[in-house]
Amino acid sequence: MATLLIVHHTPSPHCQALLEAVVSGATTEEIEGVRVVRRAALAATASDVLAADGVLLGTPANLGYMSGALKHFFDQIYYPCLDATRGRPFGYYVHGGNDVTGAVRAIESVTTGLGWRRAADAVTVTGQPAKADTEACWELGATLAAGLAD
Ligand SMILES: Cc1cc2nc3c(=O)[nH]c(=O)nc-3n(C[C@H](O)[C@H](O)[C@H](O)COP(=O)(O)O)c2cc1C
Repeated sequence: MATLLIVHHTPSPHCQALLEAVVSGATTEEIEGVRVVRRAALAATASDVLAADGVLLGTPANLGYMSGALKHFFDQIYYPCLDATRGRPFGYYVHGGNDVTGAVRAIESVTTGLGWRRAADAVTVTGQPAKADTEACWELGATLAAGLAD
């Protein structure tokens, strides 16, 4: 069975709403044969990534970058995963107050370094998530999971 790993930093209700939407999409019963594993970014390990067939990332924008928690995740998994995970499909969402540009740039940069393959458009949200935002996150989760399905 394929595994989709969701690595997220979720410090607020708005971020929680986006996380719940991606989990809901990834675990929709129409998609079979995919195990969804959730890990807080500060708890996720290289072993989690090596055991996964795809990765879905979620973070707030902080100080013009991805959150320190997601940065810590990449710091510790980068070299242990570099050779083994090249080509892995991934996707991500970013929540911010007003400008997520730096966070998007940072995620694109590190995943390019890892050689991961973005399998869906990024979802970016500022302020209170609208229905369209949670629906986009649902689609993000479903797209990543469907890509791993039998
Ligand atoms: C220290 C700090 C730095 C932040 N930096 C940014 C930033 O660079 N860009 C941005 O759009 N939002 C920024 N934010 C807002 C957070 O992204 C936002 O608080 C987070 O996504 C949670 O959303 P919420 O506060 O609406 O629940 C920052 C928040 C904090 C606490």
